[in-house]
Amino acid sequence: MPTPERQHPNTTEAKIRIAPSVMCADLCNLETDIRELEKSGINLLHFDLMDAHFVPNMPIGLALIDQLRQKTDCDFDIHLMVENNDFFVEAVADIGVQQIAVHAEAATHLDRTLSEIQGHGIKAGVALNPATPLFAMQYVIDRLDFVLIMTVNPGFAGQKLVPATLQKIVDCQAFLNERGVNIPIEVDGNVSFQNIPKMVAAGADILVGGSSSVFHKTGSRSENIEKIHQAISLGLAKRGCDA
Ligand code: DX5
Ligand code: ZN
Repeated sequence: MPTPERQHPNTTEAKIRIAPSVMCADLCNLETDIRELEKSGINLLHFDLMDAHFVPNMPIGLALIDQLRQKTDCDFDIHLMVENNDFFVEAVADIGVQQIAVHAEAATHLDRTLSEIQGHGIKAGVALNPATPLFAMQYVIDRLDFVLIMTVNPGFAGQKLVPATLQKIVDCQAFLNERGVNIPIEVDGNVSFQNIPKMVAAGADILVGGSSSVFHKTGSRSENIEKIHQAISLGLAKRGCDA
């Protein structure tokens, strides 16, 4: 089991998790990079699995996830950006992962796929592109353990936040509250030091940290993680929590 995430001393941010996006890491020195992150209290890693069809990219593959599984106790958060969800669900379930998000836009049989994921004892999530209405999850909401709100169009790191997605996080929180569903909202895409306070204030619970935060070129991994904790505190203060 992963070690409990380091609780930042002066906020109630234990419920806010940071999930470094592995595709943004130093892939030529990945084990070293992961050790740095673990030393900073990280216990959740985000893997973007792309098939070059649903999105025109393929940064990492199954072998990398499988090898890394042998090297770390971190929870694995799989973000599928593929056309054949069911194949990749089985493949990563065999490796051993803790949560899987599938895109509503790529799921022919979303309800069945989410059930398959949960059937493996893995947390199931739906990923929604910026333009996709929240209503896409209306009839699978009882199959969800989390929601992944894309704050950029999927496929590439280093993009800029789609502005409308900040309101979408607020609307997603309201959508879940109205239905009495208390599940985490994960946000993914340009989760930067500047955007984190707004995202957390809006309701984000899991932050996928990529090139604009965890792996930002201006700081070390530990320095960047510390800056993220400070940004989370600002967001919680705005959300009305103790900071
Ligand atoms: C994009 C991926 C993200 C990406 C984030 O499709 O889902 O996880 O790595 O990269 P940044 O943080 O640079 O937007
Ligand atoms: Zn992702």
